[in-house]
Amino acid sequence: MRADRRDHGAPALAVSGLTKHFGERIAFEDVTFEIAYGEVFGFLGPNGAGKTTTVRTLGTLIAPSSGTAAVAGIPLAPDNGVKIRRRIAIMPESPGLYDRLSVAENLRCFANLYEVSAPGERIERALRSVRLTDRAHDLCGTLSKGLRQRVALARALLSEPQILFLDEPTSGLDPVARREVHELIATLGRGGVTIFLTTHRLEEAERLCDRVAILNTRLRTIGQPAQLRDRLFAKALTIRTRAALCDPDRVFSDLPAVERWSGDSDGSYLVSISDTEAAAPAITRALVAAGADVLSISESYHSLEDVYLELIDEDTEALRR
Ligand SMILES: Nc1ncnc2c1ncn2[C@@H]1O[C@H](COP(=O)(O)OP(=O)(O)O)[C@@H](O)[C@H]1O
Ligand SMILES: [Mg+2]
Repeated sequence: MRADRRDHGAPALAVSGLTKHFGERIAFEDVTFEIAYGEVFGFLGPNGAGKTTTVRTLGTLIAPSSGTAAVAGIPLAPDNGVKIRRRIAIMPESPGLYDRLSVAENLRCFANLYEVSAPGERIERALRSVRLTDRAHDLCGTLSKGLRQRVALARALLSEPQILFLDEPTSGLDPVARREVHELIATLGRGGVTIFLTTHRLEEAERLCDRVAILNTRLRTIGQPAQLRDRLFAKALTIRTRAALCDPDRVFSDLPAVERWSGDSDGSYLVSISDTEAAAPAITRALVAAGADVLSISESYHSLEDVYLELIDEDTEALRR
């Protein structure tokens, strides 16, 4: 499991009560979390949730209104901007490349700007890690959106950052280009780069991230995708039998692991349980003892999407109240 790779020393990011207002408008509020070095962390939320503003704040591009943070071990403070920026890189939502320069020329420009040492070597390495070596001399203006995104990723890698912020790295990409960018991010993650990835795409967070935070101005929840599912939803088993049980209440109600059950006359049942390990074998035995022909018993699966919609719905309801 990738999460096991996490270093349990000082965190890569430590954020506490961080808030950013623009005048009356709250971009994000009272956000608290920690990320370990080596983690791929997903920052998931709908449009306008405050994701980009969080990245810009942690990236020292704008100052927070209140709260504290340490980025790569350095306290977020006006005097520490340069020090922090040397340790991080941000890939913004739109790549901002010079269309009339080639891929290599673009990277050379930014290598000069970031004052990286041995720029030639770094550029080569960055191009290799996004698999663009053979496109080094193509003009950026002629590249597809997916390739431009890879150039932007190469640019972010030039400074060999300890923390890489990727802001919606696949927005506007077609499924093939998106998959390519996913694979690159996964490879970087396996290589040990700490990645802070914002996205409004659930499957992206679920696929790439060790842990996920759901933001909707405030942080709604944080954890591994599987933990979030467990925390928000009761466990349940779906059972199918060849024919309806004669007395299902007697079969299910006597079992301590069963909390509730409901069923259809065609022999399918949904049984809420406290613990699969205890409930599934006990239910199977009870069904067999009652003479049922069991066709299947399976755990109901909640996707991260269920978790997300549940939380965002709660917010919408709270607003209506
Ligand atoms: N420079 C700004 N001035 C005023 N409001 C802003 C500014 N930047 C962002 N906002 C507001 O802050 C909120 C969060 O925006 P943003 O961080 O871009 O969300 P996300 O990236 O999650 O879509 C939005 O309501 C947005 O309009
Ligand atoms: Mg954004």
